[in-house]
Amino acid sequence: MKETCLLCLMFLFCSKSNQTGVTVSPSRSQFFEGESVILNCEDDSSAGWTLRRNISGETRTQCGSEWGSGDGLSCKISYLFKEDSGVYWCESRGGGASSMVVNISVSGGSVILQSPVLPVMEGHDLTLSCQSKTPPSNPSAAFYKDGSLIRTEPTGHMTLQHVSRSDEGLYKCHIRDHGESPSSWISVSEKPSTTSAPGFPVSPCPPCPPLLHIWLPVLGSVVLLVSLIAILWRCLQWNSKDPDSVYSVVKYSRTPNGCWTAADPPDSR
Ligand SMILES: *[C@@H]1O[C@H](CO)[C@@H](O)[C@H](O)[C@H]1NC(C)=O
Ligand SMILES: *[C@@H]1O[C@H](CO)[C@@H](O)[C@H](O)[C@H]1NC(C)=O
Repeated sequence: MKETCLLCLMFLFCSKSNQTGVTVSPSRSQFFEGESVILNCEDDSSAGWTLRRNISGETRTQCGSEWGSGDGLSCKISYLFKEDSGVYWCESRGGGASSMVVNISVSGGSVILQSPVLPVMEGHDLTLSCQSKTPPSNPSAAFYKDGSLIRTEPTGHMTLQHVSRSDEGLYKCHIRDHGESPSSWISVSEKPSTTSAPGFPVSPCPPCPPLLHIWLPVLGSVVLLVSLIAILWRCLQWNSKDPDSVYSVVKYSRTPNGCWTAADPPDSR
C-alpha cells in the first residue's frame, strides 16, 4: 500500500509539469531577413512533439511538411523572410497538450531589437540591444515602450533593473540613419511563490525523468484498480460465506496498531 501511495503522489507531481517549451537558437525573438534559425522542443522524451506555427495567412502549419526542415524535436529555417514572423510552439502528437509559445519577428528593414524569447522573471534584470545590419557610425539608440520613448542610450544597450509586471509591454528601438526595429512583446513572469506552502520545497513539482510521466500514471492506475478489485472480491467472499461473519470481523479483527486483518476473530467458533 505504501508503494501505491508513492506512485499516486508521483503521478500528481509529474502530471503537473507537462509543459514543454521551445528554444530558439540564436536565442532572440527578432531576426534579419536572410538569417537562419533553429527551433527545438525542450522535451527529450519520445512523446512525439511537432513544431507548429501561426503566421499571417497560415495557422497550425507543421515543420517539415509545410515549412522549415527537420524532425519532430528540431526544426531549421535556413532563410528567414519577413513573412515567417509569427507564433511558434511544440505540440504533442495527440494535438492536445500544446505548450509555451514563442513570438518571432523578422525585420524587413535593417534594425532589430535583441530581446529575450522567454518571459523575464520578476526581479531580474533585462538587457535590450538595438542592432543594425551594418555597423552604425553612431550606435546610439532610442528605446520605446508601448509607443513612447523611454530613453536614448549612446551604447545601443539598455538595461532595466529588477523588472516588475509594469515593465511588461511592446518594445522597439530606433537607430538614426538605419531605421526602426519591429516591435516585440516582452512579458514578465511572476516569481515562483515561496510563501504559499511553508515547509515545502520551492518547486514541489520536479520535472519527471523521460518516459516516467507516461508510465507512472498508467502503473499507478493499474495498481489502484487491482487493489480495489482485491478488496471488492474479499468483501463478496465474506458476504457469500456467512452474512454474520462480516460483523464479527469488523468487531474483533482490529490489531493493536489499528489495522484491519482478515484473521478469524478471537472467539470464532
Ligand atoms: C493559431 O491560430 C488558431 C486559429 O486562429 C488559433 O485558434 C490558435 O489559438 C493559434 N495558436 C496560437 C498558439 O496562437
Ligand atoms: C506574442 O505577441 C502578442 C502580440 O504581439 C502578445 O499578445 C503575446 O503575449 C506574445 N506571446 C509571447 C509568448 O510573448
